[in-house]
Amino acid sequence: MKDFTSHLPGSLLGAITKEIRKDSLPHLTPVPENSISMKTTLIHFWQNRYRRDTAVAVSIVVITYLLASYLDFAERFADWAEPLEHSQIDELPFVFLNAALVAIWFSVRRMRELSTEVAIRKQAQINAHESLYRFQKLFEEGLSGNFIADKDGAVIICNAAFRLMSGMAVRNESAFNIAEALGARWQQIISHTAESHPLDFPELVLERPDKGTWVVMARFRILTYPTGEIREVHGYFADITEQYLAEKELSQLFAENRALAGHALQAQEEERSRLAREIHDDLGQYLTAIRLDVATITKISSRGEASIYLDRIVRHAEYIQIAIRRIIKQLRPAALDSHGLVEALQQLIHDWQKQNPQIGCIYNLDQSCNRLPEAISIVLYRIVQEALTNISKHAHASKVEIELVKKRQNLMLKIKDDGIGFLPSTAVPNSFGLTGMRERIESLHGSFALASSPSAGVTITASIPINYARKSEYVENIIG
Ligand SMILES: Nc1ncnc2c1ncn2[C@@H]1O[C@H](COP(=O)(O)OP(=O)(O)OP(=O)(O)O)[C@@H](O)[C@H]1O
Ligand SMILES: [Mg+2]
Repeated sequence: MKDFTSHLPGSLLGAITKEIRKDSLPHLTPVPENSISMKTTLIHFWQNRYRRDTAVAVSIVVITYLLASYLDFAERFADWAEPLEHSQIDELPFVFLNAALVAIWFSVRRMRELSTEVAIRKQAQINAHESLYRFQKLFEEGLSGNFIADKDGAVIICNAAFRLMSGMAVRNESAFNIAEALGARWQQIISHTAESHPLDFPELVLERPDKGTWVVMARFRILTYPTGEIREVHGYFADITEQYLAEKELSQLFAENRALAGHALQAQEEERSRLAREIHDDLGQYLTAIRLDVATITKISSRGEASIYLDRIVRHAEYIQIAIRRIIKQLRPAALDSHGLVEALQQLIHDWQKQNPQIGCIYNLDQSCNRLPEAISIVLYRIVQEALTNISKHAHASKVEIELVKKRQNLMLKIKDDGIGFLPSTAVPNSFGLTGMRERIESLHGSFALASSPSAGVTITASIPINYARKSEYVENIIG
C-alpha cells in the first residue's frame, strides 16, 4: 500500500518531515536562555496543536493554490471537459466541492458525537474506578476477615484482617487453604449450594497450618454456575478466639471452683468424723478410766491403795492433755499465733523431716517474714504443708529446698524437689492440693506457678503482695 506522502513534491515532503521532527523534539532539546526569542516563539506556536493544525491546513491550501496556478489545473480541466459539454462534465468541480462540504459537515457532526460519547465513557470509567476503589477499600480494610476461595478451598483473594487472623501475615505466606483449616466441615459448607441464602456459624473452630487453634464467627456464601457447579465460595470471618478461650477458661474455673467447694465440704466432714473418732477413742477412754478410778477411790479407805488410783488418774489426765494439744495443733498450728510464721514453718519442716528422714531438706526462711498479716501467714503455712505432703506422697525425692524471702513489697516462696516430677498439663481427677494452693494465693492477689516435667522434679513458686493483705485486713477491722 502506497503512502499518501508519495504524491507530494520532494521539497514539501522535506518541509513537513522537518516540522514533524521539530514537533517531537522541543521537549528533548533544551532551549538555551540566550537563544533568539523568535525561535522560542515558533516552538511555542508549534507546541499548540490547534495552531499547528491550522497552519498545516493553511499551508496545504496555499500550496494547492500555488500548484494549481502553476500547472493551470482549471484551464486544463476546462479544455478536457469542453468536448464533453453535453454531459455537463464541467459541473463536476462544483459537485465535488459540495460533496466535500457535506462530508466536512457530517465529519464535524460525527466528531461532536464522538467527543460526547468519549466524554460519557470517560465519566463512566471514572465512576467505575471510584466504585471499584470504594469496594476495594471496604473489602480490604474491614475488621472482618474476608476471602474468596475456589471449590477446593484455595483462597484466591483475601483482605488484611484475614491474613492477620489466619496467620498468613506472621508466616509471610501468600497461599492459604480454607478447606484444610476446616477439615470435615468444608464438605458440609460446599454442599450448601443455595446461592440466595448465606450459611452462618456462630462458632467455628479452625486449625492453622502451625497447628494453632483459631475460632471464628463465620458466614459463607456459595456462588454457582448455571449448571449448578460451584464457581467460588465467599467467606466473612469475625475472630472470636480470645473470647472463646476466655469463656473456656472461665467455665473451667467454675468447674474447678465447684469441685473445690465440694471437696472442701467433704474434707470438712471427714475432719469432723476423724476428730470425733479421736475424741471418742483417745479422750473418751481415758475419761471413762478416770471416772471409774474416782468411783473406786471413794470406796477405798486405805491411803496407800488410793494413791495407786490417784497416780493413774494423773497419768490419764496427762494423756488427755497431750491428745488435746495434738488435736488443737492439727486444727490450727499453735506456733503461728505464739511465735509467728517462721517458727511455725521451722516446726512443720522439723516434724516432716522426722517422718521422712530419707529426704534431705535445706531451708532459708527470711526472719522479716515472721510477723506478717494473719491472712498471708496461714496461706503460706498451708502451701508449705501441702507441698511437703505431696513430696512425701508422690515425689520420691532425695532433696527439698524451701525458700521464703521478702523482696520489696512482695513475699516470695519457693519449694523445689528433685523427685520424679509430672506433666502439669495432665489433670489428675479428685486432686485438690495444687488447685487449693493456686486458689489461696490468687485470693490474696498473688501469683502462683508450678514448673515440672517427668524426672525433673517440681518447683513451686508463689508471690504475694504484702500491702494488699494489709489493706484488706485494715478494711476488715474497720468494718468489723
Ligand atoms: N512434688 C511432686 N512430685 C511429683 N508429682 C507431684 C508432686 N506434686 C504433685 N504431683 C502430682 O500432681 C498431682 C496433683 O497433686 P495434688 O496435690 O493436687 O493432688 P493429690 O496430692 O493427688 O491429692 P490431694 O487432693 O489429697 O492433695 C498428684 O496426684 C501427683 O501426680
Ligand atoms: Mg496433694
